Order: sequence, then C-alpha cells, then structure tokens
Amino acid sequence: MLVGLDPADDAAVYRLAPDQALIVTTDFFTPVVDTPYEFGAIAAANSLSDVYAMGGRPILALNIVAFPPQLAPDILTEILRGGGEKARQAGVVIAGGHTVQDKEPKYGLAAIGLAHPDRLMTKTGARPGDLLVLTKPLGTGVITTAGKQEEVKPEHLSGAIEWMLRLNNRAAQLAQEFGLRGATDVTGFGLLGHALEMSEASGVRLEIDLGAVPLMQGAKEYAARGLFPGGTHDNRDFFGPKVDAAKHLLESEVLLLFDSQTSGGLLLCVPADKRDAFTARAAALELPVWLIGKVAEGTGIAVI
Ligand code: CO
Ligand code: CO
Repeated sequence: MLVGLDPADDAAVYRLAPDQALIVTTDFFTPVVDTPYEFGAIAAANSLSDVYAMGGRPILALNIVAFPPQLAPDILTEILRGGGEKARQAGVVIAGGHTVQDKEPKYGLAAIGLAHPDRLMTKTGARPGDLLVLTKPLGTGVITTAGKQEEVKPEHLSGAIEWMLRLNNRAAQLAQEFGLRGATDVTGFGLLGHALEMSEASGVRLEIDLGAVPLMQGAKEYAARGLFPGGTHDNRDFFGPKVDAAKHLLESEVLLLFDSQTSGGLLLCVPADKRDAFTARAAALELPVWLIGKVAEGTGIAVI
C-alpha cells in the first residue's frame, strides 16, 4: 500500500510492480443539475478527478446508481449516457456496475487508474516556497443552490455546468510534465477544506490571496445573498478554526473559499523556480491556471 488512510488522500494507491501502481477511488452523489445527461457527465468527471489528482491515468470504472422506481426509466438512461460519454472522453471503459432503489437518484463511479509509483501527486507533497495554483474557478455550490431555488441566471448556471463537465486530465498532464508532487482536487470540503488537508499532511502553512482566487460568473452575487449549500456552512464550522482570515475581508467572500464544490479543479504546488515555465506552458496549451498563493513554513491557513 503506497497511499492509504494515514494520511488520507484523494484515492488509495497500491503498488503492483516497481514501475506500476494501481489507483482506486469512488464518489457518487445526488443531482446537482436538473438535466439527467449533464448530471451523469458531471458525476463521472467528478469521480475520475481523484485519479488525476493522484497523478494517475484512469482506465476502468463501474457505475454506482441509486434510482427511485417511480421515476421514468428514460431519466436513468440519460444519466448513464452522460456518464458513459464522459468516461469515453477520458479514455475510460465502464465495465458494469450496480443499481439499487432509493428515494433520491444518486450516481457516480468506482474508478481504477494507473500511475508510476515515483510520479504520484499527494497531499503530503507541498513544500515551503512552492506556489499554489488552482485550475478551475470556485462557485458551483452557490450557483447550483441558486439554481435549486430558481434564483439563478441561466448564463451563470450554464457557465458553472461547463466548468463541472471539464475533466482534470489536461491539468494533471501538465502537472506531470513539470514533475509536481503536491496536489489535490477541490470538491466537497471547498478550497480551504482541501487546502487544510494538504497543509496538515505536508506540515506546512498555506497563504491564500483572496483577491487572486478565481470565481465563476455570478458566484459573488449569490454569495452576497447567502445562497450557500448546507455543506459550505459545515465546512466553515469544521475547518474555520484553523483558518486565519484577515479582518478587512468580506465574510461572504471568505465563505466562498469554503463553498462546497462539485467536480472542481486541481490545487497544485509548483516550485517557485518552475513558475514562469509552468504558466507559459499552460498558456500555450490554453489551460486555465491561477496563482492563488504560496506555501510557507508553519501550520494552518492564512487568507490575506
Ligand atoms: Co479529491
Ligand atoms: Co473524492
């Protein structure tokens, strides 16, 4: 076992041979959007993300499905079609799965990937002096919550859906190209929750510049109106005591850093001497990356 529960990471990693490791992960959840096809595709992209966050390449997956018997079977067909097409785009074969009856639909994948044991990216890989890079903007929690309350502008929802549909495969390839070792993906615990896990696993302090953190269109507006999902408040209650936020920052904007994300981006640690080459290469590949802070000595997180 190369990566298990101590400390926990994005996925479990098991050495098969000196040059090959198996990555295993699963994730599934209730619909974040109304359209079954998009829900399926987002859930699949989200499930595969943990393989990318470990520096792996997903190869094989199984569907995990819960579905209410009174709903039209077409809906399930569309969820699975969305998941299947997203998996195919990632080069992943869905080889079966399991369905149970439940009150609310749920969908996701159990996924398997491969990696070289020396090229794993983990939460223990952050080093003082590294720069923190994020590959997708924040805001899926507030925007989908505004959607559920029918308060969302259609262009804000479609923007968030586009980000959630995006695989983290190319960002992970870029990270591998630069030999990065510290990484995680931003999902349910929000940016600060996942960043705190990385800070604790690596024994470092993370300094995040609030003004540099990218936000989806509309996120600030819904945040100011308090349209956060329950998970975002849970994240703040749980992780907040270890986060020092500068006093002058707006509470609703700091809360966005705790916003529970679905299919969020990668949080990468880039050694400072690779900064210019990394951002130039990302621009050449047309891959969005944002420098949002740095890694320092110490513990916890500072938001400035
Ligand atoms: Co993860
Ligand atoms: Co996960």
